[in-house]
Parts: sequence; structure tokens; C-alpha cells
Amino acid sequence: MKSPIGIFDSGVGGLSVLRSIREEMPHQDLVYFADQAHVPYGPRPLEEVRGFADAITRFLLGRSCPLIVVACNAASAAALKTLRQTFPDIPFVGMEPAVKPAAEQTHTGVVGVLATPATFQGELYASVVERFANGVEILQDPCPGLVGQIEKGDLQGAQTRLILEKAIRPMLEKGIDTIVLGCTHYPFVIPQIQEIAGKNVRVIDPAPAVARQTARMMESHHILSSSLEKGKTTYYTSDEPGKMIRFIDECFKITCSVEKLSWKGNMLST
Ligand code: DGL
Repeated sequence: MKSPIGIFDSGVGGLSVLRSIREEMPHQDLVYFADQAHVPYGPRPLEEVRGFADAITRFLLGRSCPLIVVACNAASAAALKTLRQTFPDIPFVGMEPAVKPAAEQTHTGVVGVLATPATFQGELYASVVERFANGVEILQDPCPGLVGQIEKGDLQGAQTRLILEKAIRPMLEKGIDTIVLGCTHYPFVIPQIQEIAGKNVRVIDPAPAVARQTARMMESHHILSSSLEKGKTTYYTSDEPGKMIRFIDECFKITCSVEKLSWKGNMLST
């Protein structure tokens, strides 16, 4: 593998970002790590998530990744700042809820944000709202249990629908015309969200913008692959690989192998 982009999340959510990165950079090798032994990150203390992000970064650097995409809003909220301090030579791309484009585009002046508690608690979210909300009313919902449903691959079941209804109906009553997805798991239920919210509500998935930003950074650091061959993707998880293999098969129609890594104390090893 040549200069693979390292991408990680607590689970399968970051695959929504990987999908856009793959479209943007078809020749680039990618390494994806899902910390499924610890999913969900959302309800955990930021400090604990910071420890996971640090160890995962060290693992990805050991796999020769010259750039790392923190494809997780919760881990970005908890750790992006310290990762950049700890590894000053490594470019990081992180996630932040797309409040800026939402505030620019809303007509009703009311925007809904679906994320997880860690993201809502982080300084990053507070600063995004402070800088960009500009008088727009922002309604938030942490969608309890939704990450778990998506991890199970239960995208269309009654429980998933109920969680989404509970979050979105009150927002619709208050006049939202835009929903920001502030968790990388949630793009996998965009059809269900759109069904509840109706076609006049715009749903913002930040993945394509993050993929473009990743490509720009790869280029400016002169690490973009010049190969004309199709890029390879290597998948790792910290849990039993079966769940992730099935998810990738169902959502992307790809048969792949996934290697298991184990947490030994606060380090990851094969
Ligand atoms: N997909 C992640 C995010 O964007 C993490 C969700 C979780 O593990 O709670 O926040």
C-alpha cells in the first residue's frame, strides 16, 4: 500500500465518509478502522474518547498513513485539537456539524441538528454555532440509540423509525427546513429521515465536502497518489469482524475482508 489515507470512527459510521473519499480519489489506498469494541462514543466522557483517538492515530501512523481523517464528529469534538498538538507534522481532517451551510441556506430560519451527546458537549460545536448561526434558531437532538441501530444494520426497522420520528417531528412543528447530520452514522438513514421530514426539508450530509477537503490537503502536502490503478481499501475493527463485513456487503454491495485488532491496555495491536 502506498501512502494510504487513514480513516477512523467508533464504528461503521465513518464508512459514509470513506464512500465519498473513494469517489473523490479512486486511485488512493485507504485504511479504515472501526472501534466497534467501544461504540458508541457519543455518551462517553470526552477524555476517554480522546485516549481512543490517540491510540488509533498511533496505529494508523504505524500503517504509514501520511494523513488522517477523523471520520467521527464525537472523536473530532473530543480530540481533534489535541491530536494536532501531539502529532504536529501530520495533517488531520476532522468533522464538524455543517451549521454554516445550513444557516446560509435556510429560508425559515430554523435548522435541526442531529448528533450525539459528545458532539453537542464539545467546544467545536459551540464555536461553530457561535460563529455561523447568525440569528438562525438551532434545534438539537441526540437521537438516543440510533448509532446502535445503525451498527446492527437495522436501518429500516420500527425502532429506528421511532427514534427518528421522536427527534424530527418536534423540529418540524417548529418550522425547520434544513437538517444537519452531525454524526457520520446518520447518512445511512437519510431515506428514512427524508420520508419523515418530507421532500421540502433539505438534509445535509457533510461527507462530500470532507472528501473534497481531504483531496485538497493530500494535494497541498504532495501525497496524492499518481497511480492509475484502482486504490485498495483495508478494513480493521476492534470487535468481531462479521458485523462489519455484513454491513459493507449490504450497504455497498462489496465483499471484503476485515481484520480484527485488540485493545491491550490503551494500545491497539494485531
Ligand atoms: N459516528 C460517530 C460520530 O460522528 C460516532 C457515533 C458514536 O459512536 O456515538 O459522532
